[in-house]
Amino acid sequence: MCGIIGYAGTADNAFSVLLDSLEFLEYRGYDSVGMAIGNREGLAVYKDKGRVNELRKKIENAGIKGNYGIGHTRWATHGGVNKANAHPHQAGKVTLVHNGIIENYQELIERYDLRKKLRSETDTEVVAHVLDHYYDGDALKAIGKMVKELKGTFSFAIIFADQPNAIYAIRTVSPIVMTKTADCSILASDLMSLSSFSNDYYVLPELSILKMTSSEIRVYDLSLNEIELQAKHIDWQVEALGKAGYPFYMEKEMMEEPKAVEDTIKERIRNGLPDFESDALSDEVFEKLHSIMIVACGTARHAGLVAKQLFERVAGIHTEVEYASEFIYNEPNLHQDTLLIAISQSGETIDTLEAIRYAKKQNIRTLAIINVKGSTMSQLVDYPLFTNAGPEIAVASTKAYTSQLSLLYLLVGRAAYVRGTRTKEEVESFISNLQRAPGLMNQVLECKDQIHQIAKEAIDDKSLFMIGRGLDYLSLMEGSLKLKEISYIHSESYASGELKHGPISLIEEGTPVVAAITQDHLVSKSLSNLKEVKARGARVYAFVKESLIGNLDKDIRIIELPNADSDFMVFPTALALQLYAYYVSMEKGYDVDKPRNLAKVVTVE
Ligand code: M6R
Repeated sequence: MCGIIGYAGTADNAFSVLLDSLEFLEYRGYDSVGMAIGNREGLAVYKDKGRVNELRKKIENAGIKGNYGIGHTRWATHGGVNKANAHPHQAGKVTLVHNGIIENYQELIERYDLRKKLRSETDTEVVAHVLDHYYDGDALKAIGKMVKELKGTFSFAIIFADQPNAIYAIRTVSPIVMTKTADCSILASDLMSLSSFSNDYYVLPELSILKMTSSEIRVYDLSLNEIELQAKHIDWQVEALGKAGYPFYMEKEMMEEPKAVEDTIKERIRNGLPDFESDALSDEVFEKLHSIMIVACGTARHAGLVAKQLFERVAGIHTEVEYASEFIYNEPNLHQDTLLIAISQSGETIDTLEAIRYAKKQNIRTLAIINVKGSTMSQLVDYPLFTNAGPEIAVASTKAYTSQLSLLYLLVGRAAYVRGTRTKEEVESFISNLQRAPGLMNQVLECKDQIHQIAKEAIDDKSLFMIGRGLDYLSLMEGSLKLKEISYIHSESYASGELKHGPISLIEEGTPVVAAITQDHLVSKSLSNLKEVKARGARVYAFVKESLIGNLDKDIRIIELPNADSDFMVFPTALALQLYAYYVSMEKGYDVDKPRNLAKVVTVE
């Protein structure tokens, strides 16, 4: 969470560069914002609670000039949302911004006798004091000493008052990337803020110290030896970052979904079969498998639940799915031939990174499905596989989810082929069904107005149930997360057959129930469950595959989904439920892209 930025240039434009970049970073946290801007006369700090545009409005006419600075957008951890706790924090000659959590900050307060000096409740201000304690003009040495005192996760961008036009940085876990142009250097928490400067970038290695001026970028290890970094390349265009005329990124990202899926799978299908040669993933990985352990959070975990069903049923591989946040604390005993599959849009989710580290310590092979290139996860795992969804900016994950599904389906197909649980022809047919997924999703987008209409009926609801069976239940788990995340309606998903074991007691006259019915072999059972809730007065809305509609009672509100093989209905169903959540949130007048209390990248445990 939190986004940090640093800039050193030759022109007096630090103010606008920092504010514009902070807007790109705002999806990481948006309760407070701040920056420090330096020029020949010194350094000034501007910060407040609220959004970037609110700070912009307050200070844009103040004639602020400076050629270097650091900035921060906050997702509060230590201390409430107020101006004092907003970053940057200062102590003596040190001004810094921070992304992460310092776990031993209380200990540091005692050790460095800081109680009376602190002006905020943050762990970050404590670090500013520790660094100032060690600073005697040699920044590299002081940062090296400071970092040995810290426990936790961090990325810092730092300015020393007596070193104008120099920005320092150090990180562990929380990412920092940087780039250089002819007249400036810039660092940030992610690539989106760099892409308007250059398509080449560097990743700051963990526990390395960056010194950046307008003319150069230098990196040192903790023994102060200089390190040479390899440049990497951004392969999407900066235009991908705009809203393209849509009111919210979420809508734009849903419209891009068919293409995101197509772009993810098209290079990985050769002669009708899944092919991972370009990912350097050999068949031997599938041959040797004893089982698969999937770890992920939130939406990414829901993609994992779908994959589990298919790995088991199609490829005959025993598969488990764990919340990444629970995984290491359960101390699982993994078979040596387990393949750990991590799924993450950002590649920065700390819980998922920790789960991977745990597996690596046990010499377990690790594969990750990631959307963001250059992310920490992509450098940690044995096999990084990238979805080609492009930047996803709305906090609610949409195109990343279906792209993850599509890549997982390819893995299932390859594993089934290699292990011989399906014939070549059966795998080819599986893959041609997958190739139809973008078309199915386009059909859903064509009917979005119908979904908009029924979404309007939910705006006064306080609580809602989503019910389904098999893969439908898994799609509804994701639909339910989406709805609660952006519309603030309490929503629960249940396996329909489970209702009568407890939850049905909550159904009363008018209770909204959203169902999905797309699985041919489960239709009669799903219909019985619908009748049970209707008999108790529920207001039922059903997302139904066209060929199954004839089975439904006339008084049920039906949203028609296109026809496809049951295993592939997750694609249109997911998109339809995303649209539903989106329209409910929009009709309620919320900031769909930035739901309260959430952040796009979750870098704290
Ligand atoms: O970046 P990741 O995929 O690792 O993020 C995991 C979750 O935080 C994320 O999917 C979250 O649940 C979404 N905001 C849901 O829309």
